[in-house]
Amino acid sequence: MGRRRHIVISAGPTREPIDPVRFLSNYSTGFMGACVASEAQRRGHRVTMVSGPVTDPPPRGVRVVRVEESREMRDVLREQLPRADALIMAAAVCDFQPAAVHRAKLPRRGNFLLSLKATPDILGSLTRRRGQVIVGFALETGQALLRARAKLRAKRLDLIVGQRLPRRSARKGPIKPGSPFGRREVHAFLLDATGAVRRLGYISKPRLAHAILDEIERLWYGGILRQRGKR
Ligand code: CTP
Repeated sequence: MGRRRHIVISAGPTREPIDPVRFLSNYSTGFMGACVASEAQRRGHRVTMVSGPVTDPPPRGVRVVRVEESREMRDVLREQLPRADALIMAAAVCDFQPAAVHRAKLPRRGNFLLSLKATPDILGSLTRRRGQVIVGFALETGQALLRARAKLRAKRLDLIVGQRLPRRSARKGPIKPGSPFGRREVHAFLLDATGAVRRLGYISKPRLAHAILDEIERLWYGGILRQRGKR
């Protein structure tokens, strides 16, 4: 259906350096981004992945640009976006980075306070053109729909993939580290800019990738962007 489109997909974690041998990061494995890339390619689209450090190889035939820091991811996406018909921001970009990077290895000491600052909001700062579909993700422990709706508006997205992360009771202990990351099912919903919600319940990441691509193609081919006079 339609011409071959170009989809840019960000994936994996970012690493924010503390000193020459240490960094801040998160549990992301890049599996969600890889599932979306495989599905997009299976549908005949051209795919570019902008990937943070991951161990799994990328899907065959997908062009990959590797990055480490959130700042690098932002710069590569700024460069790639003008040539893209869609951006799927599946990367788990670190929300914080050390306020200063120490040039020498920090010695071990009794108490050490690390000062952090927010990373640049990549999605919120990208300049997009008419007809592009921009998809973000939101991983939330409480009021998932409300928070996802606020992020969709603030970051001017066409679609947001919401994932609910259960907040365990104190008795059961904290959330298992890395909980929604890797090859696990996630509790997800899709919310578009018209406010329509598609609840998917617990779903595998390959099936979630399928649902995301269905929505993107609906936005491209259904003339919905044109009707909304989008950007
Ligand atoms: N994101 C981004 N740049 C960042 C952080 C996040 O582009 N510095 C993207 C993520 O890839 C995701 C979306 O924004 O697609 C939402 O990420 P999230 O961390 O939930 O959003 P934040 O704006 O950081 O909100 P919060 O205060 O909940 O952390």
